[in-house]
Amino acid sequence: MEFKTDIFSQYDKKWALVCAGTMKKHNAMTISWGGMGTLWGRPVVTVYVKPCRYTYEFMNDNEYFTVSFYPEENRKALSVMGKLSGRDMDKEKEAGITPVDLGKAVTYQEAEVTILCKKIYAQDLETDKMPPEVVDRYYMTEAPHRMFIGEVVEIRQTNLT
Ligand SMILES: Cc1cc2nc3c(=O)[nH]c(=O)nc-3n(C[C@H](O)[C@H](O)[C@H](O)COP(=O)(O)O)c2cc1C
Repeated sequence: MEFKTDIFSQYDKKWALVCAGTMKKHNAMTISWGGMGTLWGRPVVTVYVKPCRYTYEFMNDNEYFTVSFYPEENRKALSVMGKLSGRDMDKEKEAGITPVDLGKAVTYQEAEVTILCKKIYAQDLETDKMPPEVVDRYYMTEAPHRMFIGEVVEIRQTNLT
């Protein structure tokens, strides 16, 4: 299991899709905040999902999730996945990406890297523990993100050119 990257730009500049659920019923959305590291001696991935996202329900209801990264040519698809909601429409179709069954979770055919994660922790961020300017900027109208930490089960590198 190996993944070499500049972690400080990986989410921020490249973006990712976080996806949870089964082939029959799953949802994914774009993220640009997240982490990768070590917790309790395990390799972990951290993502932050606001309760108002449709994906939030899937993150809570499923034991596994994937975080997947894409070549630059898929930037438009990631914009679509980060603007529309699976609650209202088939946004995969709109984005032109194809789901792939990993058994425990779902990723997309276009991904160059998919990290399969087993959820091991979840906690809501609390505004009284944040810098005030962060609360002003991000949480005046919407409830704070829930942090999900997943233990890395598998890293799949595909579609590499
Ligand atoms: C570049 C980008 C990064 C985003 N990062 C996050 C994030 O880290 N956490 C989050 O909750 N929403 C994030 N969003 C917003 C969701 O992707 C967006 O609200 C999406 O439409 C939710 O889809 P859903 O309702 O189908 O889950 C981001 C959007 C974009 C375009």
